[in-house]
Amino acid sequence: MPADPTALRQALAEEIATANPTLDPAWHDAVAAVPRELFVGDAVFRLTGGVWEPVRRAEVGQDEWLRMVYSDQTWVTQIDGRDAADATGPVSGSPTSSATLPSLVVRTAQVAQLQPGQKVLEVGTGTGYSTAVLCHRLGAGNVVSIEYDPGVAARAAVHLHDAGHTPTLAVGDGLQGCTEHAGYDAIIATCSVRSIPPSWFWQLNDGGSITTTISGWMLAAGLIRLVLDDEGTAHGRFTDDTITYMLARPHERPPSSRVFRLDGDTRSTRQAPGLLKEWAGKFVAQLAAPSAEFMTIESGIVLRDVATGSQAWTESDGEGATVHQHGPLRLWDQVEDALAAWQKAGAPDLTEFGMTATPYEQTVWIGSPTGPNWRLPI
Ligand SMILES: C[S@@+](CC[C@H](N)C(=O)[O-])C[C@H]1O[C@@H](n2cnc3c(N)ncnc32)[C@H](O)[C@@H]1O
Repeated sequence: MPADPTALRQALAEEIATANPTLDPAWHDAVAAVPRELFVGDAVFRLTGGVWEPVRRAEVGQDEWLRMVYSDQTWVTQIDGRDAADATGPVSGSPTSSATLPSLVVRTAQVAQLQPGQKVLEVGTGTGYSTAVLCHRLGAGNVVSIEYDPGVAARAAVHLHDAGHTPTLAVGDGLQGCTEHAGYDAIIATCSVRSIPPSWFWQLNDGGSITTTISGWMLAAGLIRLVLDDEGTAHGRFTDDTITYMLARPHERPPSSRVFRLDGDTRSTRQAPGLLKEWAGKFVAQLAAPSAEFMTIESGIVLRDVATGSQAWTESDGEGATVHQHGPLRLWDQVEDALAAWQKAGAPDLTEFGMTATPYEQTVWIGSPTGPNWRLPI
């Protein structure tokens, strides 16, 4: 029997609602209504053996394509600025645009506590799928969406038009907000940020909220909703979601050269390097060394500070592990101190973490603002 997009949409909405029983049925209805096949286009990338292989509708056939489109998966549509539709063969690089998995689209909206009538700025239009979901629930007149990449934005505009939605669309750096239409009740980002861009504070209405993933150069992320108080300070707590979005383009790491492990001071570790393979442990490490990137190697892990070239790399030595630290920053010392503070607090998951933020100073803390805390790079 040929695949029926309406039935597949309905089944996807059911699957998402079953997995997330507290989801407002209105978001289920939005997933059941929005034709994702109009947004994904005709080609996507699939990671196969470490490279991104283009997969085309014309090659896999209509039925298989629809099943892919209506699976709860992110489909990468662009690698390092190159569109899947233009790829002639496998490419390597990092995703720069995608159709976010539908469960995450509605989960983000759920965390944002969006209600009909609220005016929302979405940062990262991408394919336009999440924009359409927002339009279905909030009304297109309440949705403004901004996309950094002009080509991606142009295609999203066509997709949204074809699906019958007419939100306000803008092209530009959403980290500057979208001044022209400012006065938002909520800002939601479908890309991650290293800290909250100052413009977002200034473009929110009193009591407005910001929902975003806070991430960084170790690619450790936490989803959070911050609410603006009367004094212009935003407060919030992270959720327990282990999800992330790709980093906002201006917050991406500068291109880095190949890493050669360099000798330096050597000592035994006091904290297990394996803690950085856990969601919260890596998040803590990133707070402690915000300009360092993280890599795994066979013997352990490597941290490399993008700004100074400082390195810390570990290797197991039977009982425990040895760390080698090179350069002006002692990255592992920083990380180990933070991990110790986290463990002293009971090694909690991200729901025990909160954030206090102004345009000038932003802190992530454990327990309360007076608990262990780290400043984010603004
Ligand atoms: C994960 S994709 C968005 C997926 C989209 N919401 C969907 O459902 O198809 C992230 C998008 O954010 C965009 N982006 C990255 N940095 C941005 C910025 N500073 N301003 C606006 N858009 C940005 C990327 O180009 C990419 O299209």
